[in-house]
Amino acid sequence: MSARSAQPGVWRRVWAAVDERLGLSGLAYPVPTHANGIGYILGGITFFGFVILAATGIWLTQFYHATPEAARQSVLYIERVAPLGDIARGVHFWTANIVMATVLLHLGRIFATGSYKRPREANWLIGVGLLATTLGMMFTGTVLKWDQEAYEALGHAEEASGLLGALGFWFSGEFAATLPLLGRLYIAHIIILPALGTMLLVAHFLLVKRHGISARPAAADSAVEGGPVPNPGGSTFSAHGIRMVGFGLVVLAVSIGLTLIWPPALGPQPVPGEEVTKPPWMFLPIYPFEDWFGLEALLWVPAFLFAGLALVPFVDRSPYRSPGRRWAVISVGVVVTIALVLLGVLAAITTPQTHLTGGA
Ligand code: HEM
Repeated sequence: MSARSAQPGVWRRVWAAVDERLGLSGLAYPVPTHANGIGYILGGITFFGFVILAATGIWLTQFYHATPEAARQSVLYIERVAPLGDIARGVHFWTANIVMATVLLHLGRIFATGSYKRPREANWLIGVGLLATTLGMMFTGTVLKWDQEAYEALGHAEEASGLLGALGFWFSGEFAATLPLLGRLYIAHIIILPALGTMLLVAHFLLVKRHGISARPAAADSAVEGGPVPNPGGSTFSAHGIRMVGFGLVVLAVSIGLTLIWPPALGPQPVPGEEVTKPPWMFLPIYPFEDWFGLEALLWVPAFLFAGLALVPFVDRSPYRSPGRRWAVISVGVVVTIALVLLGVLAAITTPQTHLTGGA
């Protein structure tokens, strides 16, 4: 046999040896073809986004100083001196924004297709926890750069949690007087929230594997009515994973492109007592409530929204999944979404107001 014709045999033997040890062929289990459509791969794109955030975040931690005296200066160092620092910071910032958008779109897909229904109620609740964790990462990340926006964001969180009395202890300076709050937020950003998010993600993925991806709504409805049970096959998880990586690399490329065109801003050195900034876009819809009702709104508006989200599977109890058969629930979802977008736009076009009693 010539060396040329022996080549495929070698690769097959290498693959067999690797597979025997790592069990990679087990990933080729069947998944439905529709799982590869963009709507059903948004969760996977979000996951890949978190991988990019972890890689760039590890790089940024090599140069960042989590003290009020040095934090902003260290971000400037990252921008101007640290090797690949400007790219790492830009990709971290833009990917975080893209991840926020894909999480919300993923949630929207699950909501529209009624995929939170039995047996996936628990996974919806885990998803609500993942959304809270993602928003927590966004908030803490915003504070770390320690410019005017960061300082005011922290001032709002401190005063709002002060309204909770003893329950708001974590945001109080007295709770751990030996370490500035900025240092504790840094620990939350790089350890506590990622660890919590990882545990929730593991549970999320195990349940997706356990239940399989939900059937298309019309197919699920006809199964309820005694029609044909949807075919679970058509593609494989390995093909799905390769598509996920492909979309994830597009996210990376877009983030690099955005970094080169619009590097993330770093505002001026914070001035205590001034209130001149507005929060990042994902928090903007809450801003008008703060204008109307004061700082308490920072507590009850998110609490109300999260409670509403958590209740969705327990309110929408019909066995149907097609949007047309769930018009009441879908209408509430559409109205709430439009209201949040309009509130965000209103916040974006109005002049910042003073909310803090003790100054930012
Ligand atoms: C924050 C990060 C999140 C990641 C990385 C993530 C990841 C994923 C992935 C990879 C899937 C399977 C494929 C897909 O449907 O896209 C999935 C399914 C699911 N996710 Fe998420 N998810 C996240 C957040 C959420 C949120 C916020 C919710 C809802 C509140 C949610 C609820 C669900 C449900 C119910 C399923 C099963 C969907 C089905 O079977 O059709 N997830 N998630």
